[in-house]
Amino acid sequence: MRYFILFSLLVTLTINLSAQNYDKQIEALLAKMTLDEKIGQLHQVPGDITTGTDVKKDNLLNSIRDGSVGSILSHTNFDNKITMQQVAVKETRLGIPLIFGFDVIHGYKTIFPIPLAQAASWNLSLIEQIERVAATEAAADGQNWTFAPMVDISRDPRWGRSMEGAGEDPYLGSRIAEARIRGIQGRNLNDQATLAACVKHYAGYGFGEAGRDYNSVDMSEQRLREMVLPPFKAAAKADAATFMNAFNTLNGTPASMNKHLITDILRGEWGWKGMIVSDWNSFGETIIHGAAEDDIDASAKCLAAGSDMDMAGGTFQRGLKKALENGRVTQAQIDEAVRRVLRLKFELGLFDDPFKYLNKERNKSQIGKAEYRTLARSAAAQSMVLLKNQNNILPLKATTTKKKVLIVGPYADSRGNKDYMSFWTLGIGFRAYDSTQVVTPAQGLRPALEALGYEVKVAQVGKNGVCDVMAQSTAFEAAKDADIVIACVGEMGYNCGESRSVANIGLPGNQEEWLKTLKINNKPVVMVLFNSRPLTFEWASANLDAIVVAWQPGYETGNGLADVLTGKTNFSGRLPMTFPRNLGQVPLYYNQLRTGRPQEKFGTLWTSGYLDSEVTPAYPFGFGLSYSTVEYSEIRIEKSTIGNAETLTAFVTVSNKGTMAVDETVQCYINDPAADVARPLKELKSFVRVHLEPGDAKPVQFNITPEDRSYWNDAVQFKCDPGKFKLYVGPNSANVKEALFTVTK
Ligand code: BGC
Repeated sequence: MRYFILFSLLVTLTINLSAQNYDKQIEALLAKMTLDEKIGQLHQVPGDITTGTDVKKDNLLNSIRDGSVGSILSHTNFDNKITMQQVAVKETRLGIPLIFGFDVIHGYKTIFPIPLAQAASWNLSLIEQIERVAATEAAADGQNWTFAPMVDISRDPRWGRSMEGAGEDPYLGSRIAEARIRGIQGRNLNDQATLAACVKHYAGYGFGEAGRDYNSVDMSEQRLREMVLPPFKAAAKADAATFMNAFNTLNGTPASMNKHLITDILRGEWGWKGMIVSDWNSFGETIIHGAAEDDIDASAKCLAAGSDMDMAGGTFQRGLKKALENGRVTQAQIDEAVRRVLRLKFELGLFDDPFKYLNKERNKSQIGKAEYRTLARSAAAQSMVLLKNQNNILPLKATTTKKKVLIVGPYADSRGNKDYMSFWTLGIGFRAYDSTQVVTPAQGLRPALEALGYEVKVAQVGKNGVCDVMAQSTAFEAAKDADIVIACVGEMGYNCGESRSVANIGLPGNQEEWLKTLKINNKPVVMVLFNSRPLTFEWASANLDAIVVAWQPGYETGNGLADVLTGKTNFSGRLPMTFPRNLGQVPLYYNQLRTGRPQEKFGTLWTSGYLDSEVTPAYPFGFGLSYSTVEYSEIRIEKSTIGNAETLTAFVTVSNKGTMAVDETVQCYINDPAADVARPLKELKSFVRVHLEPGDAKPVQFNITPEDRSYWNDAVQFKCDPGKFKLYVGPNSANVKEALFTVTK
């Protein structure tokens, strides 16, 4: 024990010492810096990729040389990064190294499933491993900092960036945010294979009106704290190094100049000490919003709110000095922002060795390893969600009668438009698409099915997701002869990501008509959907035999698909976002309030519903089938009456009654039926992934703490009331067992 105390003391001392050391170094450096050099450290400049509106680029090397650049974003060329760093450390007065930032969104060189797909795995350790690989590759390519994770909660499938988050639920979103940060930052930022994380977009970005990117957000403080902020808070607690402002206004104030969000909540209530970067020109956009007059006003408002670094727009370059001269900001405020930037550079080890991430040897050895592809394949399979499997048409088992399979559709064997990926695959270049790296559905399925005795035919039809008349007749003819059809439909990869919102969420173009033609022959059809958001496909749900949501699965698309369609891997994915029946239901989410007139039955007047549509979703949050049948026992509550400060403990037993092993995601929800304010019908509070061999029966324990039972009331107090509660456990948000418990004072 004595040794333990001594050891702990030593550890604390070392940590404090190193923090102190940085403080001393930072203060020493700061004392030498001119105002221009300080403002230079707050200036981030785009490299060889542009992901936003055009901003004027100066001669980059000259700007670095004169000390007016602190960071570069989105630069791919490795050797150029070495040159830039050389100029920064050898040719500037103080030799302050540059920090290179990059959007590493679902892999860097090895492309994994999109983040929303990863969330569908509900597998936190898988997500952490993916980020570990992505960070290793990016760090070996000279990047120091990733603009990830995006932790914006989204309930609106129209929003193009739904693909980049973890879906609609703040609890799942928080756990995934933590896993991503663990993977990106590892144990130590100073490590050669880790990056600084950047949690974005703070805050409210996923709630833009009408699903339009960058649009205004207006919401109550309660909703903000309950639905939007939890993943950000979890990320701050997980020591995420940096945050990024959001583009949107929140209740009228642009997020980049929102003091309430940044200074009061993030730095104040949560005590977070990191650095905040703007989004692409979001300081400048405060002027376009109409919330600042000019660069001086914008600079003053953004800095005073607590933002630190200016990405891409150059607003601080043009306005900050004058804002200081006019007394709109203080020298102390500028110094504080510069300290945060310098601290990050120290923590990354850039002052010790500015070239540690620019090592040619590591660049060759750490990128594109075969083991990364193995992980990508497993991730693709674990992300896919089985929505329908009539007559157990899947898995496709070995056949001795040479059954004929037709793999057909605009995404059967596509080789363009970043298909099966997303716009956010910048590590391979902005528009670059190395089709040889992607295993298409046809490439993965053909060998797997031939090995099982099938005769395989492939028909890539249509262009850019559009099935023209030719596509229709080709498919019709080919399907005549097939015993089973695998129809690959959905969205173009390039249409997936920022500024890619849609006003229609049905199958793109005339894909539904094309599917109908395919089905005229009445052959069994498996629809495989490549998508970056929930889409609607009521006809397919009613008429096709099996439906698989594959998302955009990345480089290992075809292999991951083959693994689940042949049953080599069981399906385990679950929807992280509700799939509505039709667009008019949007936004539709499981954790809605009850209303005073909930609709129990379609068509009942004077209830909260539609004349022309049910209110229920097509597929609820948390839903996904597998090839096994898992039974849930009733819930056993250890003590059904507990005190307000006690934790509730509950158990269920899950049994695999099927013939295949399965990873079952057991979900636990609560409902507080009577509180100060109306509470959601259900709130996810915990989930456990359990591996079950056939015949296995395993107990699963859930603990519901006072914090889990707490909520924000209308006086913005976070409180936990005594009273009755409902506890639900099940395989998805709609199919649950129920138990009651009571909390006393
Ligand atoms: C996006 C950010 C991204 C940045 C840099 C912006 O347009 O909103 O998420 O990190 O560009 O590419």
